Amino acid sequence: MKSELQKLIYKNTGKKAIIEHPVDMEHGDYSTNVALKTRSEKSFDSAQGKQEARSGNPMELANEIVNKIRSAGMPEYISKIEVVQPGFINFWLSQEYLANQLEGVLKDKDGFGKLTIGKGKTVVIDYSSPNIAKPFGIGHLRSTVIGQAIYNLYNFCGWKTIGDNHLGDWGTQFGKLIYQIQNSKVKIPLQGKQNLTIEKLEKLYVDFHKKVEKHPEIEDEARKYFQMLEAGDKEVRRIWQACVDLSLKEFNRIYDLLGIKIDYAFGESFYEDKMAEVIVDAKRKKLAVESQGALIISFDELNIPPGILLKSDGATMYFTRDLACVLYRQRRWNPDLYIYEVGSDQKLHFQQVFAGAVKLHYGKMNQFVHVAHGLIRFPEGKMSTRAGKTVHLDTVLDEAIKRATKIIKKSSTGRGMTVKQQEQIAKAVGIGAVKYFDLKHQPETDIIYDWEKMFQLEGDSGPYLQYTFARTRSVLNKIKNKILNIKNTDQILKIKNTLNSEELGLLRTIYRFPEVIELAAENYSPNLICNFLFDLAQKYNNFYNIHRILGGGDSEEFRLALTAATGQVLKNGLSLLGIDTPERM
Ligand code: ARG
Repeated sequence: MKSELQKLIYKNTGKKAIIEHPVDMEHGDYSTNVALKTRSEKSFDSAQGKQEARSGNPMELANEIVNKIRSAGMPEYISKIEVVQPGFINFWLSQEYLANQLEGVLKDKDGFGKLTIGKGKTVVIDYSSPNIAKPFGIGHLRSTVIGQAIYNLYNFCGWKTIGDNHLGDWGTQFGKLIYQIQNSKVKIPLQGKQNLTIEKLEKLYVDFHKKVEKHPEIEDEARKYFQMLEAGDKEVRRIWQACVDLSLKEFNRIYDLLGIKIDYAFGESFYEDKMAEVIVDAKRKKLAVESQGALIISFDELNIPPGILLKSDGATMYFTRDLACVLYRQRRWNPDLYIYEVGSDQKLHFQQVFAGAVKLHYGKMNQFVHVAHGLIRFPEGKMSTRAGKTVHLDTVLDEAIKRATKIIKKSSTGRGMTVKQQEQIAKAVGIGAVKYFDLKHQPETDIIYDWEKMFQLEGDSGPYLQYTFARTRSVLNKIKNKILNIKNTDQILKIKNTLNSEELGLLRTIYRFPEVIELAAENYSPNLICNFLFDLAQKYNNFYNIHRILGGGDSEEFRLALTAATGQVLKNGLSLLGIDTPERM
C-alpha cells in the first residue's frame, strides 16, 4: 500500500514521497510531508540564487496536490484525504480495502505477512555461539533469542537464510583448561565413560585463573598446550574433544528447552586448517606486516588498533578464525548479507573483522552487519550479578517456568487440565515470557530483568499476548461447527456501514503486519514486531470487552472473522519471535 501511495504522489507531483503512519490513528492511515519537503527544496533553490519558482506555502501546495489527485479520480482504496497544518496530507483507507485485507489473512493463514522482497538473496546469520567448557550464559541467551528472531524474519521476507552457531571451541583458553586438567586430579575418561561435568570444567577454568595470580609462569605452560592442540598432539586432542562433546550435550539440552534449531554449528575449530590460506593471502596482498614478532593487519586509517593474525608464539587468533570464516561462507553461499548477533563488547572486534575482510576482498563493507546486543542486568536479590557472580541460564529458566506454572494453576482453564497439560503450557509461557522480555527491547539497549513485568497479564508481556491468542481461540471454539463464512469481501461489505470504532481500529491495524515485518527485518529490530503485537492485542481486548461477538446479531459473523484474523496475526507474529502459542491458557 505504501508503494501504491508513493506512486500516486509521484504521478501528481513528480516527487518521491516519504509515506508514514500518523502517530495517532485519528489522523488517518497514512501521511506524507511531501509538501513540506518542497519548502526546504525551495529555500535551497533560493539559496542558490534562483528566483522563487513555486507558488504558495506548504498548506497551499498540499491542497494543490490533493486537488490534482481528486480531479484525476481518487483510487478506490482511499476513502478520504485531508490536508492539515503545517502541510501534511493524510489518507484514510477505504473499508473495502481494509475488509479485503481481512479476507487475505483468513486465506493465507500461517503465511499471512510473508514477503518476497528477499527473493534470490542469501543471508548468513551468525548467532548464539556459546563457548565450550564455559556455561551457556545469559548473554548467549540474548544472542540466541534475537538471532533466531532475525533469522525467522529474513526467512519470512523471502531470503535464503543460513544460521551458523560460531561455537567458541578453539583458542588459547583451551591451553589453560588443558593445563589445569593435566595438573589436577581430574581424569578425562576414555570414550563412553563420562564423569566430567560442565560445572567441573567451569571450576577448572576458575582454578587456573586463581593459580596464575601466584604463579604467572603457568601462562607459558598453557600456551604450550594450545600449541600442542594446534599441532595435533593426540592426547591433548582427546581431552579437547571430550570437553567439546560434553559442552555440546549441554548446549543441545538448552536449545531443546528453548525450541531453537540452528542450521550449522561449525565452530571456530572448523577453521583450523583454513587459516593458513588467509595468512598467505594477507601476506601476498601486502596487508600482513610483522610487528613485535606478531603478524598483524593495520587499520591505522580507520583509527582502530590492528587485527592480530598470529601472535609472537605463532598461535592463531579469534580474529584470524573470523576472517577464515568469512572466506568460507563467501565461497560456500556467496551471501548478500552477513549478520552477526553478538554482544556489544565485541564492537571493535567486528570493526576489525569487517575491515579486514574488505581489505582482503572477501566482501564489501555494506554486506556486514554487527547487531550488537546490550547487557542483561539483574536487580539486587537472589539473582544478583554483583561480586562477579554469573547468573546461570538454568536458574533463570527455572524461575520463569515456576512463575508460569503459578499462572496456569490459577486460571480457570488451567484448573481443568491434567498436570501434564499444565506443565506443557507452563513451559511455553515461561520460555515465551523470557524471550518476549528480551525481544521487546531494542537489541542495543541494556535490559534490567523485572520478573513482575515479564509476567504481567495486563501489560506488554509474552504471557499477555499468548493469553489474548488463547482468548481468540476460545471464542472460535464455541462455534466449532459453524463454518466461518466470511470468505469474500461482499459479505463483509454488507455490514460496512455498521462498523464501530473498535472493529475499524482492528482492521486498520491488522493490514499493517507485512509492513512491520519488512521494517523489523530492515532494521534488525524484532522489537518492532513486539510493539505491533502488543498494540493489536490491546485493541482486540478492548473490542472484546465492549462488544458481543457471539450473539452479536448481524455483526456476529464479521466479529468472528475479526477474531480469527487477530488470532492468526498474533500467532504469526509470535512464531516469528520464536514464541509458542498454546491454544488454551
Ligand atoms: N563465542 C564468542 C563469544 O562468546 C562469540 C562468537 C561470535 N561470532 C563470531 N563469528 N565471532 O564471545
